[in-house]
Amino acid sequence: MKRKELIKKYLEFFKSKNHKEIPNSSLVPQNDPTVLFTTAGMHPLVPFLLGQKHPLGKKLVGVQRCVRTGDIEMVGDEVHHTFFEMLGNWSLGDYWKKEAIEYSFEFLTKILEIKKEKIEVSCFKGDKDSLKDTESEKIWKSLGINKIKFLGKEDNWWGPAGETGPCGPDTEMFVNGVEIWNDVFMEYEKDKEGKYFEAKQKNIDTGMGVERTLAILNGLEDNYETEVWKPIIKKIESLSGKKYKGNEKTMRIIADHIKAGVFIISDGIIPGNKEQGYVLRRLIRRAVRYGKELEIRDFITKIAEPVFEIYSDYLNLKENKIKILEELKKEEQKFSQTLEKGLNEFNKLTKDEKKISGTNAFLLYQSYGFPLEMIEEESKKNKIKFSKKEFEKELQKHQQLSQTASAGKFKSGLADTSEKTTKLHTATHLLNEALRTILSKDVKQRGSNITSERLRFDFAFDRKLTSEEIKKIEDLVNKKSKENLKVSREEMPLKKAFESGAQGEFGAKYPEKVSVYTIGNFSKEICTGPHVKNTSEMGKFKIIKEESSSSGVRRIKAILEDSS
Ligand code: ALA
Repeated sequence: MKRKELIKKYLEFFKSKNHKEIPNSSLVPQNDPTVLFTTAGMHPLVPFLLGQKHPLGKKLVGVQRCVRTGDIEMVGDEVHHTFFEMLGNWSLGDYWKKEAIEYSFEFLTKILEIKKEKIEVSCFKGDKDSLKDTESEKIWKSLGINKIKFLGKEDNWWGPAGETGPCGPDTEMFVNGVEIWNDVFMEYEKDKEGKYFEAKQKNIDTGMGVERTLAILNGLEDNYETEVWKPIIKKIESLSGKKYKGNEKTMRIIADHIKAGVFIISDGIIPGNKEQGYVLRRLIRRAVRYGKELEIRDFITKIAEPVFEIYSDYLNLKENKIKILEELKKEEQKFSQTLEKGLNEFNKLTKDEKKISGTNAFLLYQSYGFPLEMIEEESKKNKIKFSKKEFEKELQKHQQLSQTASAGKFKSGLADTSEKTTKLHTATHLLNEALRTILSKDVKQRGSNITSERLRFDFAFDRKLTSEEIKKIEDLVNKKSKENLKVSREEMPLKKAFESGAQGEFGAKYPEKVSVYTIGNFSKEICTGPHVKNTSEMGKFKIIKEESSSSGVRRIKAILEDSS
């Protein structure tokens, strides 16, 4: 069976059981700062699992793209991936264990035609938080499934996805020893103290791994032999002139990291030093390093190509292909330069003595971005003494220092004043005024959030922007920034600020005396800064996303390109 067919069958099966299909959401969770990526199909549903009414009803079905980086060390075996797709069906306070298990059983045995003798299941064995799940056991037995194991929290409990939220015991289904589906009985919520309490609404949350199920259905023991991986592996084989057999782990890691990279960029992330951008950077760089084992260079975009064909049904891949390939290439080049510089420095440091101290190794790692693995490899290759323990001591020392520093920074309430965020602050003002010029003078800011990677701007407006409008807004911001406008700051009483026509955030509480930033004669806003001195410092402005934030409020995410 093919991927598209499996997905179609799953959706159709649950639709025939009165489920409504929900969209495949972004890999970057909206409005949940406790996690970096969407790690399961239930993630976009958290508010509804907690009791909010879902517009499509109480029975839902969908396929969701997911990224998990928690077990990146497991990637390289046959069944673990950073990026994967998860099929799921949900009951929001509607059906419970009996229906959930019966649906799973029917889909596995009737639609996928998996022999029931091949199915084994596990159930929760019970502990201080929840009783042994004999109810599920009985249901499975009534269906003729007798291979039932009872396991504890580490195996048969799922969630919450972030720190807090819905969770509960689960029953997992295995075929040929591989877990392919999980039915979670979300009858608990976990709070900040780590305590479980009974949920007001009991939900069913299920997850079936597309890659694993495809392997099983096609009689394959290695997910990388399925159609969602094989073309990528083939590409690596042809580029390196080496065979998959004998190089499985290396090729799997390269394929995995590049596929995940493509999808993460398609959802608006670019490589960086923080949060999602940092994970993305690590994935690309790790792929480059593993590429060295196969003696390939400048390969990332070539290996990314088949990903677009495999997932031709993902519009966000198709639409962003050029940008995705560009970002991959840029990061690969940056890293290659880093490696070259690091290697030079390494050679200098070890020229006179066949030894590298922990302090020097740490310097290479910290200041040159030279990876620890490379230090180890180079040392081994050139018979240079290197103590990893010493290096780790240095690393720890540094981490403690920077923790103290960031705690201090946090306490004193200082905003992030890096060069990049400063530029994004100024870009936000230009954007605000551009929106007022292009869309309507009534546009009002509703919120703003800036990281070193991007700006996010919420504003009151009642419909989606057209692509022409987005283009016009970008053009106006870029035109203004090219006009080399001076940015000046003035302090004045709040009343005077408003009288002078300065913009402020709707609903924000301002002090009596405020500072007002003026950009040329284009924009005037109440703001605490910081800002650049002149718009010429900004770099090219680009909107990467325009979406609804809440009813009547739109959200724009934008970046500055070519600015360091
Ligand atoms: N959320 C559950 C899982 O990821 C279904 O396994």
